[in-house]
Amino acid sequence: MKIIYTKNYDEMSKKACELVVKQINEKKNSILGLATGSTPLGLYEKLIKEYKNGLDFSEISTYNLDEYIGLSEDNDQSYNYFMNENLFKHINVNKENINIPSGINNPEKEIDDYENKIRDIGGVDLQILGLGSNGHIAFNEPSEELNAKTSIVELTESTIKANSRFFEKESDVPTKAISMGIGTIFTAKKIIILISGKNKEQATDYLLNSNKISTNWPVSLLQLHQDTTVIIDESSVGVK
Ligand code: F6R
Repeated sequence: MKIIYTKNYDEMSKKACELVVKQINEKKNSILGLATGSTPLGLYEKLIKEYKNGLDFSEISTYNLDEYIGLSEDNDQSYNYFMNENLFKHINVNKENINIPSGINNPEKEIDDYENKIRDIGGVDLQILGLGSNGHIAFNEPSEELNAKTSIVELTESTIKANSRFFEKESDVPTKAISMGIGTIFTAKKIIILISGKNKEQATDYLLNSNKISTNWPVSLLQLHQDTTVIIDESSVGVK
C-alpha cells in the first residue's frame, strides 16, 4: 500500500483528482469505479472543473460500489440520484456507460447481473473508495465472514446512524443495500481509498498500524491488494 498524507480535505481531493486525471489521460476509455458519501465530493467537484477545462469523459465507463434497496433512481437519497447530481450531469459521460446497481429491480437477479458485468470487463481500471467509521468498504460491514461477490447486505446500526444525516429521520434509512463484495472490489487494477473525518481514526489506525488482516475491519483487507493508494486528510485523521 502506498500512503499519501495531505494537509487537509482540499489537498486530499486535489491529489485524488490528479491520479484520476492521469488515469484518463493514459487511457481515454478508462473504467472508473466510483463511491458515494461525503468523502469523494471534493474529488467530484475537481473533476467537474477538469471537464470545464477540457478533460474528455466521453469514452469512460463507470461502475458504482453500491445502492440502497428500495430506492428508485429519482429518489433523492438513492446513490443513482447522488451520482447524477454530484458528477454525471456536469460532465460529458455517456449515459450508456454509467453502471449503478438498481435498488428496485429484482435484487437477487440484480446482484448476479452486476457481478457478471464487472467480471466480464475484467474489473475496473481505477476504483475510488471511502471508509466507513466501522471500517467498512462499500457496504461490506464488519463481520466474521465477508461477501466475495456482489451481494444483498444488511446495514449495521452504526452505518444506518452515520447515513441518517442525509435523511429526514433515522427510520427512513433503508436497512438493506446491494454492494460489490470484497472479491469484486479486488478485481480493480488500482484502488484509491480516501480517508477524511475524525470518526475514521480507529479504522485508519487498524489499517496502518495493526499489521493484521481482519474481517472485523474490512478495510484491512486492502493490504492484500497489489496496487492500493491510501490518501489521508491529516487535518481530520491524526493517525500516522
Ligand atoms: C459509498 C460507500 C461507503 C462510503 C463510506 C464513507 O458508496 O460505499 O462505503 O464510502 O460509508 O462514507 P462518507 O464518505 O460519507 O464518510
